[in-house]
Amino acid sequence: MYLQWNDGFSVGIKTFDDQHKKLFEIINRFHAGILERKRKEALGNLLGELMEYIKIHFEAEETEMKAHGYPDYEQHKKEHDEFLEKVNNFECRYRAGEEILTVEVLGSLVEWLDTHLNGTDKLYTPFLQQKGVK
Ligand SMILES: [Fe+2]
Ligand SMILES: [Fe+2]
Repeated sequence: MYLQWNDGFSVGIKTFDDQHKKLFEIINRFHAGILERKRKEALGNLLGELMEYIKIHFEAEETEMKAHGYPDYEQHKKEHDEFLEKVNNFECRYRAGEEILTVEVLGSLVEWLDTHLNGTDKLYTPFLQQKGVK
């Protein structure tokens, strides 16, 4: 397995941990697809699936942050928007024929998990827990 979820990734809110786990799972399938030399279309579809799930997850986080008046909402949303644009751009370029991208995409996803999930997301933990979000 390419990415293994462990408690170190927990943001202390079960709903979001479950969604993060699902993101890991899709990224792992993408990675496995590259190793299996899956056809371009199949990999493009996985990127599409990832994109869709990322949107669902970002919306879920943003809804809770907004509902409770999280002070760093704008900055957090900005990071989400920038990342969505990046993945969308990857998917478009990949479908247009830039095969070399797979390595770049994976690197970028892992970097993002490290900086956003392990950094920015964890900043909301005390605030949202205090508001009773689970
Ligand atoms: Fe997140
Ligand atoms: Fe986030």
